[in-house]
Amino acid sequence: MLKTRITEMLGIEYPILMGGMQWLAKADLVSAVSNAGGCGFITAASFASAEEVRAEIHKARDMTDKPFGVNISMLPVLIPGDQTDAFMDVACEEAVPVVETAGRNPAPYVEKLHSAGVKLIHKVPAVRFAKKAESIGVDAVTIVGFECGGHPGMDDVPSLILIPKAAAELDIPLIAAGGFCDGKSLVAALALGAEAVLMGTRFMASVESPMHDNFKRWMVAAKETDTMVVERSIRNAARIIKNEAALTVARMEAEGATLDDLIPVISGKVGRDAYLCGDINRGTIACGQVVGRIHEIKTCKQIIDDMIAEARERLTAIERIFGA
Ligand SMILES: Cc1cc2nc3c(=O)[nH]c(=O)nc-3n(C[C@H](O)[C@H](O)[C@H](O)COP(=O)(O)O)c2cc1C
Repeated sequence: MLKTRITEMLGIEYPILMGGMQWLAKADLVSAVSNAGGCGFITAASFASAEEVRAEIHKARDMTDKPFGVNISMLPVLIPGDQTDAFMDVACEEAVPVVETAGRNPAPYVEKLHSAGVKLIHKVPAVRFAKKAESIGVDAVTIVGFECGGHPGMDDVPSLILIPKAAAELDIPLIAAGGFCDGKSLVAALALGAEAVLMGTRFMASVESPMHDNFKRWMVAAKETDTMVVERSIRNAARIIKNEAALTVARMEAEGATLDDLIPVISGKVGRDAYLCGDINRGTIACGQVVGRIHEIKTCKQIIDDMIAEARERLTAIERIFGA
């Protein structure tokens, strides 16, 4: 067991987390990450109701006896009917070890989660939001850099700047996200002051990831320049695969499209259909720049084992540099 405040808080072997991923982070993928010594998060937004989330928690418990959490991303909802309250109720009733929130201030839920014995990790794209989260009593903060898959916020600041800055300004443990995929980047995150890394894109390209093989093949071939940021005009910046849908969104935004105009292209349901049918040009598909460093589809266990082995090698190499 590697020891940081995050591994101790969650009771996990390695300081490696898999963040929420709508449609992908379900029981199979989540339990694979947790069984490999990390911590996965079932993504509530993949399910139509809180009861479906409860059923998925039960399914994951049948697949692992290791800790896993629930991601409740409270982003501005495109489709009416925010289910945050109901998702929080299920997480508390099921007493999952940890909830990952994102998107807006989780203050209304801190006390409820803590009374149920649930830890709260809030994910933010800026140091000021990290400090705010600390002030309302969250247990840890994940900071995501501009290179991340999904929502990097509106400031365009990369991980290399955000992580040491946040680490210096927080007392609670910090998790680094955005651009991590291997042992080299794990060591870098720890060196910058984080106590774990959280990855999306690397686990998206895993054997257990439930998306069509066309997307996996695309990811293995993709370069670090094959993603782009859209939806800035509606203040919901998102880093996604540079496909036909992404270019359409960019063109529509340049022409002054409103949220209502964009919904038919950016709705999550279009993305879900694309994952299933394997049409890589359809839907806005979250993906980080680190895709350019992913050259192989591995099992989650291989991903994590390789990360730890490579991190140890890098540390030895660094010690040699310092003459230790
Ligand atoms: C395909 C995909 C879907 C994602 N969906 C969500 C989501 O539903 N909720 C959320 O909080 N974050 C979501 N994210 C963000 C990840 O949890 C994580 O913060 C991000 O992937 C970290 O950056 P990386 O992609 O460079 O590893 C998603 C990321 C990807 C790649």
